[in-house]
Amino acid sequence: MNDKLDFIFSRRSVRLFTDDPVPENLIEDILMAGMSAPSARAKDPWRFVVLREPEDLEAMLKIVPNGAMLKSATAAFLVCGDIDAAHDNYESYMLQDVSACTENMLLAANALGLGSCWIGIHPRTERIKPLQQYFKLPGNIIPVAGIALGYPAQKPEKRTRYNKKYILNFE
Ligand SMILES: Cc1cc2nc3c(=O)[nH]c(=O)nc-3n(C[C@H](O)[C@H](O)[C@H](O)COP(=O)(O)O)c2cc1C
Repeated sequence: MNDKLDFIFSRRSVRLFTDDPVPENLIEDILMAGMSAPSARAKDPWRFVVLREPEDLEAMLKIVPNGAMLKSATAAFLVCGDIDAAHDNYESYMLQDVSACTENMLLAANALGLGSCWIGIHPRTERIKPLQQYFKLPGNIIPVAGIALGYPAQKPEKRTRYNKKYILNFE
């Protein structure tokens, strides 16, 4: 593992957080990192809901059964895509752009000393629709991923899941 890539290898899913609040300027730094991701034709179809209030975090936790890490998170993002803004209105381009954006945000959080965890939302309509309702999002704004955020109360080891078998033309 090349030390120069530590910022990638040390990004691990963090599912337990301290009570310390995330400063507002770091929230904006993470959003800036997200919005510097590659995007098909630079259409930037990503849209965000920033969750800071405990009642919003609780509401999201109720909607996403897989989001237990929201119990201790002090902030979260709902990362959405605007299907009307995506390149040629393709859902796939929107999802690729929003996923690249989400990964940038996770890497940024790690680089800033924060912990984060991706919360799966898309393509599960039973999560997408109630989130659209709760956050009053119009139909063209599709929730794709959640990000639980906070100061880490656990520190998973850095690692790669490198596997030569996945390189199909590896000699
Ligand atoms: C599309 C996607 C959905 C995910 N959904 C969840 C989730 O709902 N809950 C969770 O705890 N982790 C979720 N994760 C995180 C993965 O479990 C985690 O990235 C994987 O186990 C590898 O561990 P690492 O992130 O520590 O490297 C998701 C990751 C992706 C890319």
